[in-house]
Amino acid sequence: MITTAFATPPDVMGVERDLQVPLYAKRDIALARGEGAYLYDTDGRRYLDAMSNYGVAILGHADAEYAAALSDQLATLTTGHQSFGSDVRAAFLVELAKVAPDGLTRAFLSNSGAEAIEAALKFARLATGRPKVVAARRAYHGRTMGALAATADPKYRAPFEPLPFAVSHVPFDDADALAAAVDGETAAVILEPIQGEAGVYPASEEYLRAARAACDAHGALLIADEVQTGFRTGVPFATVAAGVTPDLVCTAKALANGFPIGLTLATEAVGGALPAGAHGSTFGGNPLACRAGLVTLQIMRERDLYARSAALGAAIVDGVEALGAKKVRTVRGRGMMVGIELKERVTPTLRALQAAGVLALPAGSVTLRLLPPLVWEREQVDELLVALGTVLA
Ligand SMILES: Cc1ncc(COP(=O)(O)O)c(C=O)c1O
Repeated sequence: MITTAFATPPDVMGVERDLQVPLYAKRDIALARGEGAYLYDTDGRRYLDAMSNYGVAILGHADAEYAAALSDQLATLTTGHQSFGSDVRAAFLVELAKVAPDGLTRAFLSNSGAEAIEAALKFARLATGRPKVVAARRAYHGRTMGALAATADPKYRAPFEPLPFAVSHVPFDDADALAAAVDGETAAVILEPIQGEAGVYPASEEYLRAARAACDAHGALLIADEVQTGFRTGVPFATVAAGVTPDLVCTAKALANGFPIGLTLATEAVGGALPAGAHGSTFGGNPLACRAGLVTLQIMRERDLYARSAALGAAIVDGVEALGAKKVRTVRGRGMMVGIELKERVTPTLRALQAAGVLALPAGSVTLRLLPPLVWEREQVDELLVALGTVLA
């Protein structure tokens, strides 16, 4: 019997520094385990998790029901190509249909957010036969070549140009600029309902409705990038909450609470008409990922974590405003997706929070981003506010 799965190298950070491709600016701690709302480093120090690994672990860490479902699936069947049927995939698709936007009846399963976006862009191109895409300034849609073409920041794009789609980036939340950019050559408009990486900027409902109207006027498709917002803002999809139904919705991160997954939902007109073989994925839709997605959505529904996200997110925003902290310019967000814009660069505050035992994220250069697990209680909100009160004073 294996009693010790692996021996921890004496210098975890040193090994990673020397043996990995150096793409990530590393924080100086190594995570060893998690329990509910908390993470523990390899020295046994506890941290309040206010980031869920970039918005992934909505059920927190080591949830017993989630772990039992995955263990059961590991002992039953883990891999199964989509050319075969799967009982667990079918159950997951039925559960997904309960939260999918009206009319988005077709699902494509992949393994990450960028893959979900890549698929949506390819589907839009196939469905319309058009080459052009309209996206927003400051948009982040991922790092694969197609998703990167839609991503705005030159820091990510410039080394890889030319990129495969002709994308025009228009100012975010400016309905006139968007309408002017869409024409008969436009395959799709792609938007985040709340720009995450850029700084947690919610789009107005009017803007999302105007995007829908501009697409309809020119026969273009509307793609909602809900990779970060999906299941986190108090509702399954923030775009739908604004009264807008896209043609394609992409999500990933939270959908399977940490098991890699990507999902592209499409209308019958778009998704139902795609020819066999037009796109695919070896790992996409595997039974283990589907079981992880299925149990995550079941738990979200049964524990009513949508309502909890809305309530706790509002409590965080109110609590931060009530701090009256000198360093804070403004607070914004929906549910457990909160941005605290500072009057200065965010990195020192993130470091101070980590030293105080709270893990959070940046969004842009001056915004502190909170993407906590939805299983927080009021107690964790209070713990966060005490730490913020200290570091933002
Ligand atoms: C809005 C949005 N779209 C796409 C992506 C890309 O997802 P992934 O990193 O899983 O490829 C991200 C990741 O942060 C995101 O926030």
